Amino acid sequence: MTGTSSEAPRAAVVYESMFGCTEAIAHSVTVGLEEVGFTVTARDVRTDTPDDLPPFDLLVVGAPTHAFSLSRPATRRDAVDQGGRPDAESVGLREWLEVLAQTTTAGDRLFAAFDTRVGKVRFVPKAAATRASRLLVHQGYHAVSRPTPFIVHDVYGPVADGEQERARQWGRTVGQSAAARMSQ
Ligand SMILES: Cc1cc2nc3c(=O)[nH]c(=O)nc-3n(C[C@H](O)[C@H](O)[C@H](O)COP(=O)(O)O)c2cc1C
Repeated sequence: MTGTSSEAPRAAVVYESMFGCTEAIAHSVTVGLEEVGFTVTARDVRTDTPDDLPPFDLLVVGAPTHAFSLSRPATRRDAVDQGGRPDAESVGLREWLEVLAQTTTAGDRLFAAFDTRVGKVRFVPKAAATRASRLLVHQGYHAVSRPTPFIVHDVYGPVADGEQERARQWGRTVGQSAAARMSQ
């Protein structure tokens, strides 16, 4: 493992967000990870490439579900047309993960993926987190959680009641699972 038992385990939380919902969930996940002892770097795919991240043992990625998957340039354009952040159009988590594959070796690093999505059907088989998980497994990262959805009320939010707290708890659970794996 890249960390040692005498150091705090290190997590990178990397998110894409067009309207701020996934970003808000990522902040709660960060709090949960910190509560169980992780040193966390949280970064937006708009501003940081994989090379900009400090070393990490656990990668947590989050993105909005667009058309049952990770966003693409056309769906981000659609989001901007609906009032989303104009500077979030050029790069999404899908593109960020492509750069990760080209620049970084997974080694024995761990990961967990979450998404945000609209509506009451939490367990649709295809969504952003399932796609991100598949890409990271393909790169050699080891999952410590199932792909996990968080619900928003509408395309532009807000995050549904209770989801921020659930995200904090999920961050704690992911951190505890990762720490247990790292100590093996
Ligand atoms: C172009 C587009 C396609 C979308 N497709 C889906 C979808 O397939 N399923 C779903 O549940 N939500 C869908 N949504 C809603 C997004 O998941 C929602 O905008 C997102 O969770 C908000 O998070 P953000 O503020 O971080 O961008 C879509 C939104 C846009 C703009």
